[in-house]
Amino acid sequence: MLGAVSGRQVKNRGGTSNMTEYLEERETSRNMQRLTPALRFLQPYRLQVVLASVALCVTASAMLLLGQGIRIVIDSGFASGESALLTESLMLFVAFVTVLTVGTFVRFYFVSWVGEKVSNDIRQAVFNHLIHMHPGFFETNTPSEIQSRVTTDTTLLQTVIGSSVSIALRNALMLVGGLVLLVITNAKLSLLVLGSVPFVVLPVVLFGRRVRSLSRSSQDRLADVGSQVSESFRNIKIVQSFNHQGADVTQFGQRLDRSLRVALQRVWHRAVLVAVVMLMVFGAVATLLWVGGQDVLAGRTSPGDLAAFIFYAFIVAGSVGAISEVWSDLQRAAGATERLMELLHATNDLVDGDDAAAKDRLLDRPSATLSLRNLSFSYPSRPQHMALNDISLDVEAGEMVAVVGPSGAGKSTLFDLLQRFYDPSGGVIRLDGVDLRERSLAAVRAGFGFVPQDPVLFSGTLRDNLTYGRPNATVDEVNQALELAYASEFMQNLPEGLDTRVGENGVGLSGGQRQRLAIARALLAQPRCLLLDEATSALDAQSEDYVGKSLHSLKGRMTIIVIAHRLSTVRTADRICVMDQGMLLAEGSHERLLAENPLYKEFAHIQFAA
Ligand SMILES: Nc1ncnc2c1ncn2[C@@H]1O[C@H](COP(=O)(O)OP(=O)(O)OP(=O)(O)O)[C@@H](O)[C@H]1O
Ligand SMILES: [Mg+2]
Repeated sequence: MLGAVSGRQVKNRGGTSNMTEYLEERETSRNMQRLTPALRFLQPYRLQVVLASVALCVTASAMLLLGQGIRIVIDSGFASGESALLTESLMLFVAFVTVLTVGTFVRFYFVSWVGEKVSNDIRQAVFNHLIHMHPGFFETNTPSEIQSRVTTDTTLLQTVIGSSVSIALRNALMLVGGLVLLVITNAKLSLLVLGSVPFVVLPVVLFGRRVRSLSRSSQDRLADVGSQVSESFRNIKIVQSFNHQGADVTQFGQRLDRSLRVALQRVWHRAVLVAVVMLMVFGAVATLLWVGGQDVLAGRTSPGDLAAFIFYAFIVAGSVGAISEVWSDLQRAAGATERLMELLHATNDLVDGDDAAAKDRLLDRPSATLSLRNLSFSYPSRPQHMALNDISLDVEAGEMVAVVGPSGAGKSTLFDLLQRFYDPSGGVIRLDGVDLRERSLAAVRAGFGFVPQDPVLFSGTLRDNLTYGRPNATVDEVNQALELAYASEFMQNLPEGLDTRVGENGVGLSGGQRQRLAIARALLAQPRCLLLDEATSALDAQSEDYVGKSLHSLKGRMTIIVIAHRLSTVRTADRICVMDQGMLLAEGSHERLLAENPLYKEFAHIQFAA
């Protein structure tokens, strides 16, 4: 079934870096019907497919007719001794070749073209679908597996649509046509040819299987070699610090030996295979020539017939070889299609609400109001563990609330639910008076500015990262956000200022710098509610102090919920919520909680040294 895979995990078949090896390893499917969902992607290119099919039939027929051409050239041209006839037959031959060349061009061009287009369309469709999926989906379906599906599996499909299918069809046509023409040309010799088939096929099947399994294990051994290279060199300081070079060299040598042994075994089997096949093929041809030659000498058959016959025999043998070669491609592509369709049909756990219907019920406040009623939640992967347990809380517009609690209390989970990355298992969250589920996901998220616990940078310039949520922000707005996040100074000290490239292939930023950038990014998006998840944990005391003051200045301008771990932040807040084990234990001011709540008192004592 290609059904929904929303919650359940799709088996991870990833983990290999080498592309060809990976292509070899991808699971196959014997069920060719699995390929049919890919056909829908051919729809837009019907015209090209038809053109290619026509060209395919024409070239296959031309190939078969070429045998007749050979017969005519030999029998009428040479045998008759008339030069005019020779010219005429050669003209015919040239016409055939022209049709063949043009047809091959058209077929090759359009088939490859369609292959590229279709695999691209599938990549786009899968990406378009997945980018909207609920975040929980990516916990059970790892991004590395998805990546390999979007690249490797679509490449497999591209090969199949762009060549294998056409090769299989063309050769199937030629096989059938070739067989018919063989029998028509010479029935006796045909029996001889068909009789020799098992002798050629048997060694190919037997040795072929062994060669394939050997090449797979040879690739595995080579992967061992590769992994040691990267491991040793990545950790070169540890290796040298423990004087471990000698042991590494020995181990590397052993791995190389193992890899070489398998590789040589494979070389031997391949050499034997090639020799045996050659022996069989030329043995069969020799027998053919001998038996056929006798017939020609006795005048039972013409030399042209014999030549045509040998030509067809080669065509038939060639098509059998070609079909068996692409057959495994087709099986792999069936598996690839199945995996891609699984992604394409994965259902989203989060259903978009209808903004138009909710519009009239929205509270009209300058910043966001939040109301949590009996909110409970457990992660799908741990259904028995309540990450949030019966939480009720109201946050007024413009209020600043600090959330404190030990690690694992459920603070980040609360933020996830506020932004509707998950739906609650029980209870309800209202944003501006309306249930989150009744509004569009885009509207919910536009309301929040989120600074995560461990901010990441996308590859691009600093400016790209800053204006991530508002690409058309003005220079003034950018500068203001940078000021507020206490980030302008360090940015100015970077080599190219805001145009400095960061992320995967750019410069790195320190933890504290990343946090300040993330705060500026969130402010720039002009949220109605700012969510800060320990956003200042990596800052030194001075920067922390400055950011704290900025937060203070933002108070009242937007609703702020801050997961806090420092006294200064906590004291800035209008209210403090104490969480533990998914529950909201107490709320109030610092002084009141200190006096009334033992957990907070202990927490404050350790955390704030208060
Ligand atoms: N994706 C997840 N799948 C399953 N369980 C999770 C997931 N994320 C968090 N949890 C669990 O939910 C509970 C609450 O986690 P959460 O991240 O909300 O804690 P926290 O209060 O933010 O802690 P910290 O202060 O360490 O960041 C923990 O027991 C955690 O193990
Ligand atoms: Mg957390």
